[in-house]
Amino acid sequence: MADRTVNIGLSLGADICWPICYEHLLAEVTKGLTYDGQSVNVACERVTIEPFSLHQPVKYDVVIDRLTHWYSTSREWIKKAIVLNDLYVYNNPWSLQSNEKHTSYCAMLRLGLPIPETWMLPPKSYDVTDDLEETLRKYAKLFDLAEVGDKIGYPFFMKPYHGGGWKGVSKISNVDDLRRAYDESGTEVMNLQAAVLPHDYFVRTVGLGPQTRKVNYDPGAPLHDRYRMNVDFLSEEDASVLEDTVLTINSFFGWDFNSCETLKRDGIWHPIDFANACPDSQVTSLHYHFPWLIKANLRWSIFNAVTDRKMRKTLDWEPFYEIADKDLAPRERLSEYAKIAHERMETEKFREFCQTKLGHLDELAYEFFGSDKFRDAVHQKVTALFPSHEIEEFTELFFNRVQKWREQEGQRGDEGGF
Ligand SMILES: Nc1ncnc2c1ncn2[C@@H]1O[C@H](COP(=O)(O)OP(=O)(O)OP(=O)(O)O)[C@@H](O)[C@H]1O
Ligand SMILES: [Mg+2]
Repeated sequence: MADRTVNIGLSLGADICWPICYEHLLAEVTKGLTYDGQSVNVACERVTIEPFSLHQPVKYDVVIDRLTHWYSTSREWIKKAIVLNDLYVYNNPWSLQSNEKHTSYCAMLRLGLPIPETWMLPPKSYDVTDDLEETLRKYAKLFDLAEVGDKIGYPFFMKPYHGGGWKGVSKISNVDDLRRAYDESGTEVMNLQAAVLPHDYFVRTVGLGPQTRKVNYDPGAPLHDRYRMNVDFLSEEDASVLEDTVLTINSFFGWDFNSCETLKRDGIWHPIDFANACPDSQVTSLHYHFPWLIKANLRWSIFNAVTDRKMRKTLDWEPFYEIADKDLAPRERLSEYAKIAHERMETEKFREFCQTKLGHLDELAYEFFGSDKFRDAVHQKVTALFPSHEIEEFTELFFNRVQKWREQEGQRGDEGGF
């Protein structure tokens, strides 16, 4: 019997593959774990959706949440559990609910990051409500769409202000495109954003706690090929800018797990999409990078559960604003923001925890990702997504890409990428 049991909950939707891998490796890596002179059992289960009393106790120490975007019951249960039961959840549900993509642009502009010129448009049409006509008649100013287009300069992108997985995103090359796209946008509120085109690099940086992974990304490729497999394509300084950028964004918004799309043009990295607080976690898109995500998720969740780390429930932006208002060069300023991030994420304590308590994770992961159990998990995910005649071919493709990861990176371990 362990001296202490901590509980991790997985709040899941259509996730298939990553929880299987996570649960298996969690059980393995925490065998015989001790912390603070006590033996600790780390239990894990999937959170169910059911009626609950606000007085209901919560058994979990940490919940990894994938549902909050979509299910009000799960979201409200999570909020109750944080407020009343001291639960640690990633990601912060209030921040997720209220900080849209548009707000993330505003905030990072305020911190001086090179966000491309961005506008917001009132929607083309409205759902009818009692006060609508009077409000619009009094306050909605007629505007010249073409004039807005000229001010931004072509080409630019039109996209919903709240994000949404490429839905409603279009590249606008001239005024005719603009009029057509606006007509089609209906009741959606849209941002228009100057295109960073052409660019030298397109990188998606995934952040999980202080751990980051910079992935070369090709948005034009089919879904299964967007995450490229080359890893040493960035200079040390570029990698460091991307790390500091995603950590700044994530600590500002209280997102432990988020990804940031950044495009490099003329030596400058422009973040263009970084409110993705339920990032891609599927083997069918991450493939080669999938083991990194599983390991990062294990490290961060185990650390938070076992050390009883407190969740930061509110967002405190003032320290970032104080730095923004100092007379600093952009790179120096970014480093100062990243220092806040490391402090808030307790990077040093986390690093030591990983080294002393989870050092054998790399080896366990290396074994597991070559196993039949893993192959079966890939097969299950592929079966859910692909037509039946492609299931074997794509299972093989994704499994083999992970074998490539084992050869190239798995054996030496990644120490978390932080
Ligand atoms: N300013 C820009 N410059 C160049 N390309 C852009 C720009 N904005 C968007 N794009 C292209 O359009 C794609 C989709 O846009 P974006 O990433 O902003 O929306 P999204 O992925 O739907 O949003 P979310 O990830 O929040 O659901 C990007 O991956 C990129 O290829
Ligand atoms: Mg995107």
